[in-house]
Amino acid sequence: MFRNEIHPLEKRVWLSSPTMHGEELAYMQQAYQTNWMSTVGANIDCIEQEIADFIGVRRAVGLSAGTAALHLCMKLAGIGPGVRVACSDMTFSATVNPVTYEGGEPVFIDTERDTWNMDPKSLCKAFELYPDIRAVVVANLYGTPARLDEIRAVCAEHGAVLIEDAAESLGATYKGCQTGCFGRFNAISFNGNKIITGSSGGMLLTDDEQAAQQARNWSTQARDTAPWYQHKEIGYNYRISNVIAGVVRGQFPHLQEHIAQKKAIYERYRDGLSGLPVQMNPFDAANSEPNYWLSCLLIDEDAMCGQTRDEHTAVYTPAPGKSCPTEILETLAKHNAEGRPIWKPMHLQPVYRDKKFVKVSESSVGEDIFRRGLCLPSDNKMTPEEQDKIIEIVKACFA
Ligand SMILES: Cc1ncc(COP(=O)(O)O)c(C=O)c1O
Repeated sequence: MFRNEIHPLEKRVWLSSPTMHGEELAYMQQAYQTNWMSTVGANIDCIEQEIADFIGVRRAVGLSAGTAALHLCMKLAGIGPGVRVACSDMTFSATVNPVTYEGGEPVFIDTERDTWNMDPKSLCKAFELYPDIRAVVVANLYGTPARLDEIRAVCAEHGAVLIEDAAESLGATYKGCQTGCFGRFNAISFNGNKIITGSSGGMLLTDDEQAAQQARNWSTQARDTAPWYQHKEIGYNYRISNVIAGVVRGQFPHLQEHIAQKKAIYERYRDGLSGLPVQMNPFDAANSEPNYWLSCLLIDEDAMCGQTRDEHTAVYTPAPGKSCPTEILETLAKHNAEGRPIWKPMHLQPVYRDKKFVKVSESSVGEDIFRRGLCLPSDNKMTPEEQDKIIEIVKACFA
């Protein structure tokens, strides 16, 4: 079949867009009608408690973004100028930027093939090379849990603080526990593209009640108790709005429904693309259940056509029976569907290129996945018919 035989999708199919249900509006209206149009109110109190209970942590602190949560995690972990922090390498930059906000030194840890997350072996090597690493921040990429027990054990052995970036993995479990509870300090996100959204927003999760109180205080400008505005520390305007918290509150009962839809999408791609020289993004089926936030592909090495990328552009050379992420993404775009390259590893980013990068294999696993991998349209409002069309488009790229 030739690419041109397929007609573009009637409406755009997104990578992952917000899916509203109606309850969100009721909670937002409640904020309006009670005049709690502020960073205080019932929506915040309720959703903090609901999320804490669900994840299995003592405290959840509602914040303006997942990035704000990660920033306060860094402060709680005592990250300051020159302090080394081992970080997931193949992740979104928000996992790492908060280290830099505090003047810390990220040390990037290569990726392992089985979950596309931080490689525990490379992490061990990083502690050998840099025994002064004080904290580790691990992301669960695309909703797939990392090898959290192994990473936690390495941290315990070296007395390092574990910070879990569960921004993409809300609702995913590892050994029966929800992601977002494995670190001493943890972060989730309600950004518009996440599995549930507030339009924006995030939370810091922890069992440490004092730390939660500290984070809450920093997030509201670090006010001391006094009759006037009194500050002995630098604060931030990071608290979640009661309106945003209302959206999250309305979304939260639909989390499992969204996960089921995303899982069905993942399985439909897996089955539909099974004859092609590609693999889906893997997970540790014995120990984890992802939330299937994004469905991704990795093209077999011998089925890759020529592809060249510089800092800002990518080109490819079509070849019969072969394809590459650039060809697939461009073809999807032409047919009105949004895919995306794999998150470019941090050690390749111009802003972080001078930082340390630790790997155990000869060449970087993350670089290889970035070169051969892509994220497929994974929107939970995509119909099975639309998805079938996307499968046909991908197949045609390999014709
Ligand atoms: C892995 C990861 N960490 C952190 C963030 C930051 O979350 P937010 O956009 O809520 O600041 C995101 C997404 O945006 C993310 O994908």
